Amino acid sequence: MAHVRTDDRGSLLDRALEASVVGSFSRIGIVLRRRTQRWPELADAGRGLSALVTGGNSGIGLATAAGLLARGVRVVITTRDEAKGAQARATLLDLVAPVGGPLDRTEVGARLVTASLDLDRLGSVRALAERIDTLGPIDVLVHNAGAMFAERSMTEDGLERTWQVHGVAPFLLTMLLVPHLTMRPDARVVWVSSGGMYTERLVVRRVDSPGGYRPSVAYARAKRAQVELARELHRRLGGSTGIAFHAMHPGWARTPGLRTSLPTFARIVGPLLRSPAEGADTILHLALTARSGADDDPLAGGRFWADRSPRTTDRLSRTVADDAERAALWDRLVADAGVVPPGTTA
Ligand SMILES: NC(=O)c1ccc[n+]([C@@H]2O[C@H](COP(=O)([O-])OP(=O)(O)OC[C@H]3O[C@@H](n4cnc5c(N)ncnc54)[C@H](OP(=O)(O)O)[C@@H]3O)[C@@H](O)[C@H]2O)c1
Repeated sequence: MAHVRTDDRGSLLDRALEASVVGSFSRIGIVLRRRTQRWPELADAGRGLSALVTGGNSGIGLATAAGLLARGVRVVITTRDEAKGAQARATLLDLVAPVGGPLDRTEVGARLVTASLDLDRLGSVRALAERIDTLGPIDVLVHNAGAMFAERSMTEDGLERTWQVHGVAPFLLTMLLVPHLTMRPDARVVWVSSGGMYTERLVVRRVDSPGGYRPSVAYARAKRAQVELARELHRRLGGSTGIAFHAMHPGWARTPGLRTSLPTFARIVGPLLRSPAEGADTILHLALTARSGADDDPLAGGRFWADRSPRTTDRLSRTVADDAERAALWDRLVADAGVVPPGTTA
């Protein structure tokens, strides 16, 4: 009888979990994978690094910022207004460096910066990028901010809101921050997508829901666009800039956003929801794990991740997009963001 090695057991179980959505996306997935794959601790690999986390005042973004701060990273969190920034700062200090705890509160506080960003306004994205000019290099950019909107609406920039918040505005921010991301080697950009994207194919003429609007469909299309965009960014800019562009999904995590947008789902799945920190785990893995330098190193970028492993981008054959559609996505983003990508001319 053939023996199954412990490592093989981990990968067999991983495949079994991946085949079932509940097993993979719920808390069960991360708990079993962590145990059977013997995940290493993400030690203080972040000392000296700088990160920018959008939507860092709540849920997965707050947990990401806490995880980075605890590992020595200098973190800029963005919030929609100053009051939320002040509140998030106090929450993060209490989480990461409680009074009487092992970490020095003053030192952690000095590594935490809050900045204002409202993705509903492209002017706010440009203002943040200008402010970042004073902040120096960025090693890690986490596009975490996002939401599901009950109704279709247009922003002051004349774009459909779900598309702008998840696509156009973070794309613009990425383009404007490329000079900061290339100041040091080994920068990473992480798009926090959603497993919901598995239901939708990238069709660029539909990304802004020009026909009927259904919140979950608009959201899934925008999240699909993020995954295809990470791949396209890797193809166009990965080699010339050295930046690793990743997309990931956090699984189902108990956050204010989930409770607001899908209250019934949050109630039913209840105890099987991940904690925000479990939702943030793969973001931290992508932010902090050293690249091997090998040609086939998945940490070089262009992949879609969950629970610390690259995953398929398509569970259904009908969602597979081709290179032409990804190129059309790029053109649409460039036009809607009104930006000239690095390495091209106006
Ligand atoms: N929780 C899950 O199970 C789950 C599953 C899959 C994917 N995700 C994704 O994970 C990310 C974090 O979600 P979460 O569950 O942690 O939700 P959350 O607790 O609501 O946090 C979302 C963050 O995004 C910010 N945000 C929303 N719209 C924004 C805008 N127009 N401009 C600037 N910031 C904006 C929010 O700011 P305010 O506090 O001001 O609203 C908040 O800081 C999102 O991209 C979400 O789609 C979550």
